[in-house]
Amino acid sequence: MKILAIESSCDETAVAVVEDGRKVLTDQVFSQADLHAVYGGVVPEIAARGHIEVIAQLAQRALDEAHVAREELDAVAVTYAPGLIGALLVGVNFAKACALALQIPLIPVHHIRGHIAANYLAYPELKPPFLCLAISGGNTLLADVRDYTDIHIMGATRDDAAGECFDKTARVLGLPYPGGKPLQELARTGDEHKYPFPLAQVHGEPYEFSFSGLKTAVVNLVHHEQQLGHALDKPSIAASFTRTVSDSLVPPTIAAARETGYNQIVVAGGVAANTTIRSDFQRAVQAEGKKLYIPPLRLCGDNGAMIGSQGYYEFLAGHTADETLNAYATLDVSEDYPPASVKNP
Ligand code: KG4
Repeated sequence: MKILAIESSCDETAVAVVEDGRKVLTDQVFSQADLHAVYGGVVPEIAARGHIEVIAQLAQRALDEAHVAREELDAVAVTYAPGLIGALLVGVNFAKACALALQIPLIPVHHIRGHIAANYLAYPELKPPFLCLAISGGNTLLADVRDYTDIHIMGATRDDAAGECFDKTARVLGLPYPGGKPLQELARTGDEHKYPFPLAQVHGEPYEFSFSGLKTAVVNLVHHEQQLGHALDKPSIAASFTRTVSDSLVPPTIAAARETGYNQIVVAGGVAANTTIRSDFQRAVQAEGKKLYIPPLRLCGDNGAMIGSQGYYEFLAGHTADETLNAYATLDVSEDYPPASVKNP
């Protein structure tokens, strides 16, 4: 089954063709990062306008690269939640038009389910059930993935996401947007034990996270040092920050895997590209005698292939939509389509 997959939830326009959920025939990603860099973050309206300009050309390029004719497509999958509403609507509307014109099924895909599915593309042997930590720019959560479309949230961030915290910390250190990668470079020469930042955990709630305190601690430290006229040890701030994020994420994930009894631990999302977090997980999961699945770097960030992979399993579960499909800025990863409750359409 060949699925045309569309992703436009934030600042990447992405189109892929994926066969039977596991084989990527093409994966086209057009990043708008340069458009937003000058503002230090994503500007929603600019993102939406950026998507609408390139999406049709990108889809044609995807089909050309995959050597797939429009008539050979069996379905269209699209990210419909969560994300920037204007950005999502571009992808949803384009996917609807494709499904109507080609008379093929339309499959709505939750963005975080897509990030989880990036691992199905990288690891053909991986099948649910497993424990998953999803760490992206907009979400941070621990999930019990019982089956491809049977996902239960064990804990989540109460405020900022891990990626958001990386981006804000990077900004206060004068680094460009998106800040995760430059912050990782800066941290390489720093002392990760120099600054004792607060863990992004919630007292008494072992699987919940809270990154706003950590973010504020970094901002306060930087402003305090600047007011005193001290030279900032930016590499050590970046390294200590990264150590704190990793120490906030790894132990709860291991504890959740123990509680569920799963031997497979999956890490997903843009922040999974971080080298410190990757090696800390390798070490901790190995010590636990479990198996770690973490996507290669090219599949950590937003892409269309992951939507095509999850779309296949959503289709098998009967989760298709008609032309009334809407987009949602927020939606729990545990909700199937059609969503029973939507907070912010
Ligand atoms: O998953 P993603 O591409 O987009 C969302 O679905 O939100 O994640 C983007 C986030 C950004 O916050 C970015 O700074 C972060 O992933 N990121 C990293 C690294 N590369 C990207 N964070 C830490 N270290 C990295 N190497």
